Amino acid sequence: MAREKKRRSNGRRSPLAAAALIGAGLMITGAVYAGTTAAFAATDTQTAATSTLTVEDGEKLFTANCATCHGLDLQGTANGPSLYGVGELAVEFQMSTGRMPLQMQGPQAPQKEPQFTEEQILAISSFVQAEAPGPTFPDEHVLDGGGDVANGA
Ligand code: HEC
Repeated sequence: MAREKKRRSNGRRSPLAAAALIGAGLMITGAVYAGTTAAFAATDTQTAATSTLTVEDGEKLFTANCATCHGLDLQGTANGPSLYGVGELAVEFQMSTGRMPLQMQGPQAPQKEPQFTEEQILAISSFVQAEAPGPTFPDEHVLDGGGDVANGA
């Protein structure tokens, strides 16, 4: 008698227990996932904020992302012009407007979402500037609006 009663009560409890177990499982999975994502996001921001990329980093980025078209020594290929003398400003412009790296050949490089962070862009700009100098970023006194329109500068 006692045994039968026990078995019956077990049978009654199990569907609820299963539901509770699944619920708990989902909640734990969700919490762990949210925690991990937040941790990764935090790590990302930290790296971006604290790391300063060097000209060598810029060279690596250039070799990996630009050299197929512009050549390992910026000499140009059949797919892209030489970058001798274009300067850091041109690289910053082309990359921060998402035009470079070019995805498809066409009459004019289309504007896209930038593919690189500002830090990476500046690293590549410094590398190009160091390899084959060209026009630099404008000086403060040009940007502050204090120049003379008639005389220039
Ligand atoms: C798929 C080939 C390709 C790739 C990859 C590519 N480029 Fe270009 N790039 C071109 C072509 C073609 C032009 C000329 C486009 C135009 O004039 O509209 C160009 C133009 C440029 C210019 C302007 C040159 C000038 O005379 O003002 C710069 C700067 C530049 N690219 C930098 C880069 C950098 C930096 C990368 C890597 C992040 C890169 N490109 C990746 C093909 C490419």
